[in-house]
Amino acid sequence: MEGLEAAVEVRLAEPADYAAISRIGKLVFRYETDVKRLQDACVLVATYGKIVAGFAIASDILVEGHTVIMSLAVHCEFRRCGIGTQLLETLQATAVLDQRPLIAMAALGDSRRMDFLQSVGFRVYQPKGDGLVLTWGK
Ligand SMILES: CC(C)(COP(=O)(O)OP(=O)(O)OC[C@H]1O[C@@H](n2cnc3c(N)ncnc32)[C@H](O)[C@@H]1OP(=O)(O)O)[C@@H](O)C(=O)NCCC(=O)NCCS
Repeated sequence: MEGLEAAVEVRLAEPADYAAISRIGKLVFRYETDVKRLQDACVLVATYGKIVAGFAIASDILVEGHTVIMSLAVHCEFRRCGIGTQLLETLQATAVLDQRPLIAMAALGDSRRMDFLQSVGFRVYQPKGDGLVLTWGK
């Protein structure tokens, strides 16, 4: 969708967005994303008009001194338009303000996730179990 990126707004999620987040989460990950239970998390939505096109959830309490990306999803109809990038850049700005470096996890061999994360500016930081921890390294 040409020019869509400029029309997308990224903001903190409100209770009215929770149903849409849950729907997208179920579609993308095949499990429920119950935002109400994530009390200490930072939850962002990307909206196109009144439509929630994607969301990002991050937490400051999982790894000391860091902000960890817990979930990030863009609805299939809105992919490759820069929305995932916008969500991560907003999370990064928030994390830097809080002086907590942003980190992401990826399973070894998950090349699509790695391609996306590296194109946005993450770099491999260290292996962990059967996955990798990446940190923002632009
Ligand atoms: C990963 C995801 C969030 C990307 O969202 P998006 O809005 O499509 O991403 P962007 O448009 O910002 O992509 C930026 C760049 O990342 C790379 N990229 C994105 N999706 C990619 C894919 N499926 N395969 C390879 N590279 C990809 C490209 O370089 C892209 O730039 P380009 O479109 O100019 O080539 C989305 O595909 C998604 O929801 N996937 C399923 C859930 C998931 O894997 N979440 C974890 C993310 S860490």
